[in-house]
Amino acid sequence: MVKADHVIVDLEKLHRSGAAFEEILEAAVRGLHVLDERFHWTGIYELFPDNVLRLGPFIGAPTDHVFIGVGRGVCGTAVAERRNINVPDVRLESNYLACSTETRSELVILIRRGEKIYAQVDIDSHQVAAFDEASVVRVQRVADWLAALYESRDRLGRAP
Ligand code: SME
Repeated sequence: MVKADHVIVDLEKLHRSGAAFEEILEAAVRGLHVLDERFHWTGIYELFPDNVLRLGPFIGAPTDHVFIGVGRGVCGTAVAERRNINVPDVRLESNYLACSTETRSELVILIRRGEKIYAQVDIDSHQVAAFDEASVVRVQRVADWLAALYESRDRLGRAP
């Protein structure tokens, strides 16, 4: 099991080496994906000013859901309700957009600083209730590091 600390140390190194923002996001997805062997699809959706989530880097099967409006599916609901969502069994969830028929559970962790939501980490698992407290804490730590990165990018005045 890889620790969130290791992922963050690697991301910090990459950041200090002057890597582009997109490159750091890709590395974060790679790092998140190996945090737990039950993570079968790992991606980042970024929130744009038109209130649409757009798929950024991901690992796993390609998905039809490249654009998701706020309020739609588990991903859009997390933004609308400004909260993380852990769905133990997607077959019981009415507001769910299927990415793969194999998916059984899903975790969405917001990348946010206070009230400002920048993006989200979305993870699917083929196992029911794959996201236990320990794995949620690991993902949260990486998401919080990414939130600080988004905030510093905003402070530097670059386009979101
Ligand atoms: N299941 C998500 C859609 C994204 S795919 O899983 C990659 C949802 O319900 O919003």
